[in-house]
Parts: sequence; structure tokens; C-alpha cells
Amino acid sequence: MDDNKMQMTIPLKSGDLVLKNPVLTASGTFGYGVEFSRYGDLTGLGGIVTKGLSLKPMKGNPQPRIVETAAGMLNAIGLQNWGVEGFLENYLPKLPLEQLPVIVNIYAHSPEDFSSLAARLSNVPGIAALEVNISCPNVACGGLLFGQDPKMAFEVTRAVKQASGNLPVMVKLSPNVTSITEIALACEEGGADMLSCINTLTGMAVDLKGRRPALANVVGGLSGPAIKPVALRCVWQVANAVKIPVIGIGGVYCADDILEFLLVGAYAVQVGTANFHRPNKAFELPAELEARMKKLKIENLQSFRGTLQIPDIKSWDEM
Ligand SMILES: Cc1cc2nc3c(=O)[nH]c(=O)nc-3n(C[C@H](O)[C@H](O)[C@H](O)COP(=O)(O)O)c2cc1C
Repeated sequence: MDDNKMQMTIPLKSGDLVLKNPVLTASGTFGYGVEFSRYGDLTGLGGIVTKGLSLKPMKGNPQPRIVETAAGMLNAIGLQNWGVEGFLENYLPKLPLEQLPVIVNIYAHSPEDFSSLAARLSNVPGIAALEVNISCPNVACGGLLFGQDPKMAFEVTRAVKQASGNLPVMVKLSPNVTSITEIALACEEGGADMLSCINTLTGMAVDLKGRRPALANVVGGLSGPAIKPVALRCVWQVANAVKIPVIGIGGVYCADDILEFLLVGAYAVQVGTANFHRPNKAFELPAELEARMKKLKIENLQSFRGTLQIPDIKSWDEM
């Protein structure tokens, strides 16, 4: 195996984004990164994605807002966060920015507010990229609506792109749509440099004895191993539809999950719900991946990526 076997070079319009390995952490599941530094060395990760930031701090939804489900969890946090200034003042300076790509996830109620957020962050040194959340199912205003309408997805992407200067822009897609490729193409047309998919699937859990919803918000976003097949399908479809790089998210728990996302075309993955089960899980994954590559005789990830073979129907019968 070569020295850079785990490295992923993500081609962008203005220069490449180089990750030492394809293990990123997913927004909302890893705080602002700083909180997890007690569980492992942040610089061993391919990168982190921060909790979604809005212009002003948000309190989020009332409790209860997390519930465990079969093979996953439902959340309706409602984008509680310290706001962009709180993050810039209290968290960003504590991150090892020179050795760790930090992707800042943003959320707003309007294209104008998205634009203001992007403009504010474009002047901040050390940020690797923005991730634009147009796919949150847990907020009343905006959120998922932007990600379900190709025109709105285009508009938000264009607004962020125009305001973000040289910062690469990744748009995060929702699986809660009829055609994810239609939205992906709209974002690409709006100027997105990368796409990430997927955000959570809208779901619901009930408390049978109490005869009421398990979440105060009634509905929430399903995540974890339960959604991995949906996520793989989405990544595969999107990667085949657009020319820009795609990052896979949804139920990544082990090295094989990472390899599966890369096989269907992703350049990297984000680890989300697994961090709730084991806060050191993401830190362990690069070594697990290396061991698994050796076992499967995968020389390097860059050439492995996107090599899924779909046999024709005749050869399926012979298998
Ligand atoms: C508790 C929780 C909070 C989340 N908050 C955000 C967020 O602020 N912004 C965002 O884009 N996605 C958010 N997500 C979605 C995740 O980043 C990820 O897309 C999703 O959980 C699927 O990945 P997983 O199955 O590995 O968890 C959140 C997910 C969870 C479980």
C-alpha cells in the first residue's frame, strides 16, 4: 500500500480540498468539535463539520427532543446553537485549524440570511468550507422547504455562493423528496462546489402507554444504521447525476460502511449517530479503515472510489 492510501483529494473549482482520510464528523452530532477532543485526537480525523450555525443564537425545540428507535434515533433538536458570533469567539479559536479541515454548517430562514452568514464566514481564516443545511426537518420556518423545491435550492445555493468569496460551498441534501437528483442538479447549477447527502428522514415515534408522541415536536429526523440503505441509494443517484463531488452521510458505523459509500461514488463520509453510541467511534475509524483496506486488498481509496460494477441481468443469474 502507498503512503497516501487513505488520502482523498476532492477536486473543487478553486483548488483541491485534501483530506488525510475520508472520515468527517456530521453536523449536530459532534458539537463544535472542541467538546469531543477529550475522546480522541481531532487531528486524526479527515475533518469535522460543526453544529448548524444561525445568525443569532437559537434555543431549539422543547424537550423531549431525542428518542431511540430500532437501529437508529429520532431527533427534533430544532437547531439549538450559539449563533455565528458565539462560535467564532468561543469555539473556532480552540480548534487545531492548521491540521484539521473545519467545515462550518449554516442554517437560515431566508436566502438573505444565508447570504449574510456566508459573507460573515468568508472573512474568517482557517475555515475549509461551508455546508449549507437546506434539509432540516425540525424547524418550522425554511429548513426542509428550501431542500424540497429546486428553485429555492438553486436560489439559496446561489446566494451563499455569491457571498462566500473563495470558501468552497457544500449543499446538504434531504432524502425527503421525490427526486433527489432534481434538487442536486439545481444546487450544482446554483454554483455548489460539493454536495453532501443525506440529512435525516422525517419520522415519528409514539408513547403507547401515554398515548402521545414521543417527541414534543411530534415529528423528528430519523438517523443511524436504519437509514444507511436510503443514504447509499441517494449518494449513488446523485454521484451519477452531477459533476461535482459528493460526500456520503447516513448510518456510518464501521469501516465497511465507509467503503460502501466510497464504492458508490462518495469522496468522503460523515459520521453522525455513531458518536452518540460511542463518542470515540469516529477517532477509531481511520485505523479500522486502514486494517480493512489491507484485508480487502484495496491499494488506495482514491482509485477505489466509484468503482461499483453493476452486472447485467444475465450475469446476475449466473452468480
Ligand atoms: C441530534 C442530531 C442533530 C443534528 N443536527 C444537524 C444540524 O444542525 N445540521 C445539519 O445539517 N444536520 C444535522 N443533523 C443531521 C446529521 O448531520 C446527519 O445528516 C444525519 O444524522 C444522518 O447521519 P447519521 O445516520 O450518521 O446520523 C443532526 C442529526 C442528529 C442526530
